[in-house]
Amino acid sequence: MNYRHLYHAGNFADVFKHAILALVIERLKAKDAPFAVIDTHAGAGLYDISGPEAQKTGEFARGYGQIASADLPAALAPYRAAVAQVNPEVALRFYPGSPLLALALMRPRDRLVACELHPDEARALKRALGRDKRAEVHERDGYAALKAFLPPKERRGLVLIDPPFEAPAERRRVVRALAQAHARWPTGIYALWYPIKADSEARLFHAELANTGIRRQLACEVRMQAGDEPARLNGCGLVIVNPPFQIEATLRQVLPALHAALAGAGGTRVDWVVPE
Ligand SMILES: C[S@@+](CC[C@H](N)C(=O)[O-])C[C@H]1O[C@@H](n2cnc3c(N)ncnc32)[C@H](O)[C@@H]1O
Repeated sequence: MNYRHLYHAGNFADVFKHAILALVIERLKAKDAPFAVIDTHAGAGLYDISGPEAQKTGEFARGYGQIASADLPAALAPYRAAVAQVNPEVALRFYPGSPLLALALMRPRDRLVACELHPDEARALKRALGRDKRAEVHERDGYAALKAFLPPKERRGLVLIDPPFEAPAERRRVVRALAQAHARWPTGIYALWYPIKADSEARLFHAELANTGIRRQLACEVRMQAGDEPARLNGCGLVIVNPPFQIEATLRQVLPALHAALAGAGGTRVDWVVPE
């Protein structure tokens, strides 16, 4: 486990994933009933992008740094407000990871369950979450945790599966985890992040997801490079299982605007994994 998200915090992949995460949470808030967010690979929670790690890669500058003050659709306002919340000073110094972002948007009655396997990252996450009573942090394997935590007592909410994809078998693990989790909790919303390097790998991932037999899977993709170079992160995707009502239309409007603000080549797609 060498991966440390601090090097990548707020990059284009985070922007894309977190913007969609915020849209899903905002939809969940349309109903009064409480919901749970279960984050299987939560990371450290808060990232100081003025530090040497983030500065070394420069990924933040090409990611959130590009869109911080861009003219964007109103639907993205909650996402940017959540980033502003962890930056009380005027200058942009911190970027929130998925657990902090979720908490910034959640209500007092909603609940966050965050799993992080790396001890240093889990410790940092506990520190970042402070005494927030809505949140629990588990230093454990996020895939195994799904068995313990699903279905959540609220019976509504979102599971985010966002592994580092360091291991070649990670894709298959994600698909298996989704199939098992969905069998335990078929009505939950699931968001699965994946890298796009070779196009053929991304297509294979979709084929494996289709083979689970789960019908309502919406794949959202962004490409920052036009080519199909397997050694490079050309883009990334997020598959949303059981996407909330009307979010497809919002994504079709918002993602191209986000892509344009990020000034990437390539483009965006929103497609059903199993055609409707
Ligand atoms: C891509 S980062 C997560 C970023 C975070 N979800 C966000 O959006 O801010 C992946 C994290 O998963 C952790 N990790 C790796 N394998 C894990 C496992 N089996 N269970 C839980 N966490 C794991 C890594 O230490 C790393 O912090």
